[in-house]
Amino acid sequence: MDTHFEIESILKEKRVFKPDPAFARKANVSGAAAYNRLHKEADQNYQRFWARLAREQVSWFSPWKKVLDWKPPFAKWFVGAKTNVSYNCLDRHLEGENAWRRNKAAIIWQGEPEEDRRVLTYGDLHREVCKFANVLKSRGVKKGDRVVIYMPLVPELAIAMLACSRIGAVHSIIFGGFSAEAIRDRIDDAQAEIVITADGGWRRGSIVPLKQLVDKATEKSRQIRDVIVLRRTGQEILMKDGRDLWWHELMQEASPDCKPAKLDAEHPLFILYTSGSTGKPKGVLHTTGGYLVHVTVTSKYIFDLKEDDTYWCTADIGWITGHSYVVYGILSNGATSFMYEGAPNWPGPDRFWELIDRNQVSIFYTAPTAIRAFMKWGDHEVKKHSLASLRLLGTVGEPINPKAWMWYRRLIGKNRCPIVDTYWQTETGGIMISPLPGAVPTMPGSCTRPFPGIAYDVVNETGESVGPNEGGFLVVTRPWPGMLRGIYGDPARFKEEYWSKFPDKGIYFAGDGARRDRNGNFWVMGRVDDVMNVAGHRLSTMEIESALVSHPSVTEAAVVGRPHEIKGTGIAAFVTLESGADADAALKEALRQHVAKEIGPIARPDDLRFTDSLPKTRSGKIMRRLLRELAAGKLPVGDTTTLEDFSVLAELRESEES
Ligand code: WTA
Repeated sequence: MDTHFEIESILKEKRVFKPDPAFARKANVSGAAAYNRLHKEADQNYQRFWARLAREQVSWFSPWKKVLDWKPPFAKWFVGAKTNVSYNCLDRHLEGENAWRRNKAAIIWQGEPEEDRRVLTYGDLHREVCKFANVLKSRGVKKGDRVVIYMPLVPELAIAMLACSRIGAVHSIIFGGFSAEAIRDRIDDAQAEIVITADGGWRRGSIVPLKQLVDKATEKSRQIRDVIVLRRTGQEILMKDGRDLWWHELMQEASPDCKPAKLDAEHPLFILYTSGSTGKPKGVLHTTGGYLVHVTVTSKYIFDLKEDDTYWCTADIGWITGHSYVVYGILSNGATSFMYEGAPNWPGPDRFWELIDRNQVSIFYTAPTAIRAFMKWGDHEVKKHSLASLRLLGTVGEPINPKAWMWYRRLIGKNRCPIVDTYWQTETGGIMISPLPGAVPTMPGSCTRPFPGIAYDVVNETGESVGPNEGGFLVVTRPWPGMLRGIYGDPARFKEEYWSKFPDKGIYFAGDGARRDRNGNFWVMGRVDDVMNVAGHRLSTMEIESALVSHPSVTEAAVVGRPHEIKGTGIAAFVTLESGADADAALKEALRQHVAKEIGPIARPDDLRFTDSLPKTRSGKIMRRLLRELAAGKLPVGDTTTLEDFSVLAELRESEES
């Protein structure tokens, strides 16, 4: 890890937008006084605060004996309580005073092909989930078994997740853009015996051959017992005898009755792989009760979810945002989740705006990288549509530049919709820092204040709080319900990655730098470790380096981020070659493709430079800071006194960029 890191704050944003009184009046948390009351309650006793919300907003089969058992860094929330996530997302909307929701839309789904549109009511979804839960049981899936899911963004993906949670199986969803190699690693690490996939998915009019990629990933593995295949794109595919089964055939015979398992609050709900500061992806583990409380409460207060909202989060379900805020948090509130399978610019760059109008979407949650792309495609694309149904906007995934924030507010929100800039991570399970839209004044570029009950600080190298507007490490100082419970199968790495920077203090640090202004608002400044945030997706520099080095022509590689207009961060690779390899354009392209094949197209380097050597310190550490400056097109300005061989720098500066 690059330990030489200086955080310097450059943002000097002064614009403030107070909540609109008309919005505030109707908001779930209405006005500053209500907001301050929540904070006060949480500060007095954060465990009691979460327990109250857990009782009011989540349904339990039996209560907890203790709210929190905290033996740093291991937390147990709602100890001894029993619940079920699918029960909370489905059954409770069909019972008692909420029974009318049976015919309310749970999912409105639009496929990429125009004619593919489906509406699943809560009643429909409940039936499909029960049936698929019975399918899983009939295939021998038991409580605690890991189920790998690799599917396009179709309702069956949500059905598969909810079915797993219904019987206590642990899902591990792999984003549809990952390669066969990435699937193989994740199947192995999770020790899964069953994979759920589809023949293919649609992406800009062509088919992503998902099943074929699963076949490739499992070629040499005997561990996979069943592959359940949904027919989506309809092309001819290979079905392996004795292993591969069609979703629709299994569902035909399945019974629609399936009682939700009464699961311990700490029963594992899912594993989701993400990049860490070492090369190997880590399986972030989330459990049942605390996670459910966190995503339910934050959905209700931050998105101000109401009975008549149509809510659209554009994230893929394969990322944490999709888990928590396309599916679990939204359905557990009994709200309507709009889902769209395709790309934002297919068939045209105004696809999203057209969908918002047609479906009367009222809450829209997307990523800064998407907003930058919309800006580039032009205001006229937006102005073709009314967007009058919108009342609230959100962003997630990376720091949003004030320019993009203002554009979002003006063009999409028509200066009328509040914007919630929500800061969180795969590891946090749910949103951690965000304005509440009817209570907190917003500023372009700030995610404002921690959610009540959640404690953040900005600290220096020794773990002491820094003053206002000073940059530092962003840390969490007490446990929260949605926190990850570990890295699957690797408790040592869990300690090392999150709890070792400030040892023995129970302080969680996961890679971001920030400053806090005089009013207590947080300004996240991005990653301080070897993880890049490319188009809102986390990629580890080490992972891409090992993919490059696995190519026979490569000796050594260093990967750094560099500013990129749309993606926020682009990927720059510096590569030294084996003697005899030709440093030509064809090899550059081959290496870029090689990375796409090893990890996925999202990891393909934007620039690739060949060099005879990399700048290193005397102890042999690659000086990434210098590479970052070079990749950004700047002359290295920082300290170079520890550089071993100065000629390397001159040479690198001259090396041509692709
Ligand atoms: C970054 C996505 C600034 C941050 C939910 C974090 C943000 C990483 C914001 C987690 C935000 C996410 N402002 N930075 N509103 N939201 N990030 O695990 O660097 O895919 O550590 O979770 O994204 O990415 P992940």
